[in-house]
Amino acid sequence: MARRLEPGTRVIIATHNRGKFREIVELLAPYRLDPVSAGELGLPEPEETAEDFVGNARLKALVAARAGGEAALADDSGFSLAALGGAPGLYSARWGGPAKDFALAMRRVAEALGDHPDRRAWFSCALSLAWPDGETASFFGRVEGHAVWPPRGERGFGYDPMFVPLGADETFGEMEPARKHAISHRARAFEALAAACLPLLDPHIGETGKR
Ligand code: IMP
Repeated sequence: MARRLEPGTRVIIATHNRGKFREIVELLAPYRLDPVSAGELGLPEPEETAEDFVGNARLKALVAARAGGEAALADDSGFSLAALGGAPGLYSARWGGPAKDFALAMRRVAEALGDHPDRRAWFSCALSLAWPDGETASFFGRVEGHAVWPPRGERGFGYDPMFVPLGADETFGEMEPARKHAISHRARAFEALAAACLPLLDPHIGETGKR
């Protein structure tokens, strides 16, 4: 059984991506942990050399937990198109070039897709929690939908403005953040992480923090 974090524990969020950091902090909010970003602590960002999302998330969490001496949570995620054989996938961040320009990355995806009739798309997310002694626990989530062009909406980050999840009309870039958090790849991986490793929520405590 995976180890569970105690309420009040400081957790390093092992990402230098501000969009991901914000979403992870929002998802963690009910669990009374103390999140701090790897960037704030000046921790290094390792090369993502693994062959899948879980391998990269594990690698990033372990490097941060060992360097920071505290539990660390890392996310590795990506956007995939069926017509492109799953690309950009693991390389989603790199399609934005050195400046991580996602307007450029989305344009590159749209150009690669052209007028291909198959618009099926999905986001994948692996979340890994690591402890400084080397123990890790990893979780995976995915959300299916289709790609649209031109991009729509100013919310979210990365490829959000060109993705419409199944059952919705809005892109992740147009959607209320709470709605994205209810169905996203990250939220699905997070649900499994919370069940196994986050402090148990007291069902008698309401949003005011009072019983
Ligand atoms: P990495 O996990 O740091 O390699 O980067 C994953 C990349 O995938 C991000 O930079 C985003 O471009 C994209 N991505 C991951 N999750 C999301 C999301 O929820 N919305 C939009 N783009 C995402």
